[in-house]
Amino acid sequence: MKLSRLCILVLAVALVFCAIPNSAQRRPNQESRINALLARMTLAEKLGQLQQLDGEANGNFRPEHRELVRKGLLGSTLNVRGAQRTNELQRIAMEESRLKIPMLFGFDVIHGYRTIFPVPLGEASSWDPAVAERSAAIAAAEARSAGVHWTFAPMLDIARDARWGRIVEGAGEDPYLGAAMARARVRGFQGRDYSADDKVLACAKHWVAYGAAEAGRDYNTTDMSERTLREIYFPPFKAAVDEGVGTFMSSFNAINGVPASANPFILTTVLRGEWKFDGFVVSDYTAVEELMKHGVAANEQEAARLALNAGVEMEMVSRLYGKHGADLVRSGQLSQVTIDEAVRRILRIKMRLGLFERPLTDEARERSVIFSQAHQAAAREIAARSMVLLKNQGETLPLSKTLKSITVIGPLADDQLDMIGSWTGDGNAGDAVTLLAGIKAKVSPSTRVIYAKGCEVNGDSADGIDAAVRAASNSDVVIVAVGESADMSGEAASRSSLDLPGRQLDLVKAVQATGKPTIVVLMNGRPLTINWIAENTPAILETWFAGTQAGNAIADVLFGDVNPGGKLPVTFPRNVGQEPLYYNHLNTGRPPDASNKYTSKYLDVSWTPLFPFGHGLSYTQFRITNLQLSAQSIRPNGKLTVSVQVENVGKRTGDEVVQLYIRDVAASMTRPVKELKGFQRVTLQPGEKKRVEFVLTGEQLGFWNREMRFVVEPGEFKVMVGANSMDLIETKLEVTGR
Ligand code: NOJ
Repeated sequence: MKLSRLCILVLAVALVFCAIPNSAQRRPNQESRINALLARMTLAEKLGQLQQLDGEANGNFRPEHRELVRKGLLGSTLNVRGAQRTNELQRIAMEESRLKIPMLFGFDVIHGYRTIFPVPLGEASSWDPAVAERSAAIAAAEARSAGVHWTFAPMLDIARDARWGRIVEGAGEDPYLGAAMARARVRGFQGRDYSADDKVLACAKHWVAYGAAEAGRDYNTTDMSERTLREIYFPPFKAAVDEGVGTFMSSFNAINGVPASANPFILTTVLRGEWKFDGFVVSDYTAVEELMKHGVAANEQEAARLALNAGVEMEMVSRLYGKHGADLVRSGQLSQVTIDEAVRRILRIKMRLGLFERPLTDEARERSVIFSQAHQAAAREIAARSMVLLKNQGETLPLSKTLKSITVIGPLADDQLDMIGSWTGDGNAGDAVTLLAGIKAKVSPSTRVIYAKGCEVNGDSADGIDAAVRAASNSDVVIVAVGESADMSGEAASRSSLDLPGRQLDLVKAVQATGKPTIVVLMNGRPLTINWIAENTPAILETWFAGTQAGNAIADVLFGDVNPGGKLPVTFPRNVGQEPLYYNHLNTGRPPDASNKYTSKYLDVSWTPLFPFGHGLSYTQFRITNLQLSAQSIRPNGKLTVSVQVENVGKRTGDEVVQLYIRDVAASMTRPVKELKGFQRVTLQPGEKKRVEFVLTGEQLGFWNREMRFVVEPGEFKVMVGANSMDLIETKLEVTGR
């Protein structure tokens, strides 16, 4: 073979290799090794691989686990962590069990392991997938060094209802943004090869529609069309599969009457059949057992059979597979093939993790990797990049670092625990930099920083408000940190009100009444109804729960070292009665019209949001003009370029997130009034202009029709570009041909 041909061949092989995520892990001999193992396993050992049990609250394993592992009856634990502890249990598996199958250690590493990053909803506000990839990669490195192989993240649930507490764990309301963040986070956690000692196996959860829990009440049931499932709730999960995610978690909720953990349509038809997912599915915590309470299983045996047959391979915490699996096989209600397939999938992932070759964790690494200076620096940058400037009247912000005095007020202003948010892995509140500490570190030594708490986050007492008012009256500006405590969002933390809890609004009103410029810093895990604040205070910065470096990052933004560029990944309603409120809704036959009573609106509140999806300001201003399409028409399988000119017309360097939306004007089904199809966060110097281009494909204009076929229908579309979902310029596009 000539040298040039050889080069081409090598290049082609390399290209194929690069194109397949985790291809490094698909070694051909893996399947034959699995077959050989399966041939040697007893049924009890097989069922043992399907079992995951919880460790102790402090991260240790339970005494019982030793014996189970020794007998080959336990394949995985959750919450057990620390290199020494995981190694101890792993040694039992590798040295004392008959078949020497390694244990798999899982843990909820949601937004950081020890170095805590902004909560995922906050991180999604960056509209910058690179940020999510970076924090996931750091979280992975820290977790793996502590013996954790597997994170139960990313949470990919679309959430359109802010009452649902777990909205904080996801990327918000939009499937396109959600899919972009999903890809990034899976990439960050797993990398190209998750056998590496700085990577972990990811888990796409909660499959599926958990975020649509009725009335926003956690664990509640969901009922929706297959179309809505496919168009709104599936895309982030499909993106995760495309990115090579190794595992899925089945959700707690029922979907159209069938609990997710016993739902063959989502677990088998879609996930395995259509998407060719070859990893495994773990149930959520005791979700298999809960099939009885759902009322689809009359007894434990039936619950185990339903879940296994539907496609839940690993049972988290409840023990019905182990208890009843053998009887089910014996009585012919469960086939040996189903069990073997479940074990095969779990062993495949354990092999891809490299656990058979390197079951133990290097105990020397943990100390140097975890909470390194570099990780903290990244946490600060990422947090600052995730903040959203909701309002900035008369350029109240940024503040000067040489003010004579600043008063910092509010129950969240000097609170370490709450700023790191919910699900904080091995995070330590003591590591967190509070807002007060961040401000003190930022301002000049001559600036006097006064602090007054004012009130609790959630309590009746207004006793501290007077003192806060006195403190405010004595300074140049006031910064008030209000919001929710960390435990008011997250799992089992739904709320029926989105107002600021306790006396916090009274506190803000009293402080504002002093006439001092009052800057509101929000810390919260969901959109809040803050109408009074939005109308009456000059500046509002949404910081979510920004993590270990929260205080420093917020100070970076307040004092202008970082120009905020985040945008809301969720709609902020005016009152809770508007929920679910989301930008990509369908139209009605009577769209809201202020001059016509008989249109779709409320008597007591506007139909519009307080802040729309995609909203966020900067310390500079941008102008988006000159929307152009590279062609006026597109074929279903074609593509074109959409471009706009973005100009920084202000005085500071800053970021704009340019957003592309489409609308199918008339179709065989009613279509959303807007759908996000692209976004780019760009940085521009003052006076700088840039053409921002998006590739729009015909496929992006498609939908699931009445026959549940994916179609791109000919006809007119609107193409819209702008700085948020309401502030858009638009043009027309025609789809031609089939
Ligand atoms: C229940 C939660 O729903 C899930 O997200 C989490 O991963 C598991 N518990 C394990 O902690």
